[in-house]
Formats: sequence, C-alpha cells, structure tokens
Amino acid sequence: MGGEEVRTTKEDGGEWDFYTWISNNLTMLLYILATLWLIKKLINLVRLRFFAYVMHLCTKDEFPQLEEVKKDHFASMAKITSHDPELRKQNAIRVLEIGVGTGVNFAHYPKGSRLVAVDPNHEFKSYFEANKQKFPNIEVEDYIVTTGEKMDMVPDGSVDVVVVTLVLCSIDDTARFLGQIRRVLAPGGKFYFMEHIAEFNLKKHWLRRRMQDVFTYIIPVWPWVFDGCCLDRETLPEIEKAGFSKVEADRYYAPIPHWVFWPEQPNLKGIATK
Ligand SMILES: C[S@@+](CC[C@H](N)C(=O)[O-])C[C@H]1O[C@@H](n2cnc3c(N)ncnc32)[C@H](O)[C@@H]1O
Repeated sequence: MGGEEVRTTKEDGGEWDFYTWISNNLTMLLYILATLWLIKKLINLVRLRFFAYVMHLCTKDEFPQLEEVKKDHFASMAKITSHDPELRKQNAIRVLEIGVGTGVNFAHYPKGSRLVAVDPNHEFKSYFEANKQKFPNIEVEDYIVTTGEKMDMVPDGSVDVVVVTLVLCSIDDTARFLGQIRRVLAPGGKFYFMEHIAEFNLKKHWLRRRMQDVFTYIIPVWPWVFDGCCLDRETLPEIEKAGFSKVEADRYYAPIPHWVFWPEQPNLKGIATK
C-alpha cells in the first residue's frame, strides 16, 4: 500500500508475452517465411528443370532397336476408328498421352492424329515443342500441365487412345491414375502402355532384382535422378484390376544398348481395352 508499482519487461527479466513478441517481430517473421517459401520454390524448379534436361539427354538419340519394338507395339493404332463423327470423316483419331515428357512417341501416332498431351512438369514443354516441329502431320489440340490422377478437365469418353510410356514407375496412386484413363477413353477405346518393371526371371537375373531394390531404396539413385522412379514395380497386376474389359500384355527385355539402363531392361508392354 502506497508502494510504487513495478512493471517488468522482457529486457529486465520479467514475464515474456507471446502476443507482444509476435507484434514486435512480425516483419522479421514474414521475411523469414517468404524467404523459406522462395527457397522451396527454387529447389522445386531446379528439380523439375534438372529432370527434364536428364530426360532430354536420354531421349535425344534414338535407340533403333527400341524404336522397332515401339513401331510394332503401336502399329495397331492405325486401324482404330474414332468414336467422334467429325474425326471419323477426316480419318483421324484423338490420342491422349499422359506423362508425354519430351515427346518421344510422335513417330508412332497415326498420321493426322489429334494429340492431347498431359504432363505435370512444365519444364518439358520446350523439348516437346522442339520435337513436335518434326511431325507437322500431328495436331496438338491441347497441352495440359497436370498429373494423370488430376486430369479432371479431360472430358469423359473423349479420347480414342491413351498412351503411357515409362510413367507408371513413378505414380503414387496408380489405381486413381488408371481410373482416370478408363474414364476418358471412349467405349472400346484402347490404352497402350510400355513400362519398365521389376525383374521377372529371378532364377536367371536374381542380381538385377537385388540391384533394383538397392537403387530404389538403399542408394536411391533412380528416384533421385528420375524424379521418383521406382525400379521394383510389378505394374501388370494393377492394370489387370483397373476394370478394363480386356488386357493383353507381355513381359520382355527392352533392347537398350547402354549399361546405365541395365536395371530398366525388364519391361512390360500391352494394350487394355475399355
Ligand atoms: C521417365 S519420364 C517418361 C517420358 C516419356 N513418356 C518417355 O517415354 O520418354 C516420366 C514422365 O512422366 C511424367 N509424370 C510424372 N508423374 C506423373 C503423373 N503423376 N502424371 C502424369 N505424368 C507424370 C514426368 O513429368 C515425365 O514426363
């Protein structure tokens, strides 16, 4: 009573107040958050650009034997009749390629094809466009930057053919991805796939199967360099349970004449019908 009131502050060791501290340091906090956000964006951009460049290096020179396998695999596309009366009149079909990357499959679409390209990595677009120049008979109707799982903007039953090559190895939700393919295909439409998979001849190539696990999980070179790619995917069972009316597929060893791709040689190619 009658004594002098003593106020304590942080500086003289008094009680620390959260709200006072926030209001005094708000600018600094916002600055730190903005910097962290920018660094994250930058790392992501570098990652996407790096992967697109790696894929450009891997695909800029054709492997003639692999092209022969592709030619044979995609040959039946030329016999497909479009569900769309307008395209039918022009003897053309609509192809949707998901995970189009640098555009390595242009040579295998029938002449006059209308292409809808989907890829979540916009850094591929310039390589894709440069490649497209060599194929004036293919018309790109749309290039959509999104994932196969989220391509809701592609209308139901709107495409005659879906093409996917070397993509399912890096998809987290394969069931959703395949469900979207079924949704966008017209009745009777075809899904062409070519994917590297887990080694299937364990007796002969047990070492490769081991190394696929090593390079995916222990020293994860593949997911690192190839943006989430896993070498141990089986893939065919997933396609078989995705609700297609028919699935025809075979396993084979891809003729890639470079030792770097030895872990990717076991492959799967096939056609699923809606
Ligand atoms: C190994 S590259 C293959 C590119 C090309 N299809 C080829 O055969 O060379 C994988 C491609 O799938 C794309 N991709 C990755 N995740 C995807 C997803 N969830 N949906 C669609 N594409 C995806 C990548 O951006 C990349 O273009």
